[in-house]
Amino acid sequence: MPYADSIGAIRDLLDEGVILMAGISNADVSQIDEAREILGGRLVSVQNQFSPAFRSSQGELEHCAELGIAFLPWSPLGGIAGAKDLADRHGAFQEVADEVGASVYQVTLAWELALAPIVIPIPGASRPESIRDSAGATDLVLTADQVARLSA
Ligand SMILES: NC(=O)c1ccc[n+]([C@@H]2O[C@H](COP(=O)([O-])OP(=O)(O)OC[C@H]3O[C@@H](n4cnc5c(N)ncnc54)[C@H](OP(=O)(O)O)[C@@H]3O)[C@@H](O)[C@H]2O)c1
Repeated sequence: MPYADSIGAIRDLLDEGVILMAGISNADVSQIDEAREILGGRLVSVQNQFSPAFRSSQGELEHCAELGIAFLPWSPLGGIAGAKDLADRHGAFQEVADEVGASVYQVTLAWELALAPIVIPIPGASRPESIRDSAGATDLVLTADQVARLSA
């Protein structure tokens, strides 16, 4: 199905008042532009995979920052399987976690939040401890040097 047809269905829902705002997922830069052409300012978010292990959506993140629309990293900790190995596979994140006295998960989310003001990571969790810990990332401010090391 042509992408414009899928987005056209969302435009119809907006026009009918069924939904007030629209978000798209797993879109590349040209699809974001196509969706924006059809939906205008009613396109408010893009949800793509982004984490220490999966960075190929960096271009879409930057494009959303330029457009001023929210970028929601999905599986921001590497997914249910990958989150367990975050510290082992991404040593820089554990190093910064040791420096700031926070969990590697909090540091990962704080790093994503620091990349642009429009970034809103959506971590999953089944345990209350995970949720409380991840929520703390909003108060964790990393230095520019720490952000640069994690981004490298
Ligand atoms: N748009 C799409 O195509 C798409 C595709 C996949 C996923 N998603 C969305 O992405 C969101 C999250 O993805 P996800 O759950 O797959 O991956 P994730 O958020 O990267 O990882 C979830 C895992 O991280 C663990 N975790 C989270 N916070 C933690 C913390 N502070 N300390 C220790 N462990 C922590 C959780 O453990 P516990 O369970 O033990 O708490 C869980 O195993 C969901 O809302 C999902 O719907 C979207």
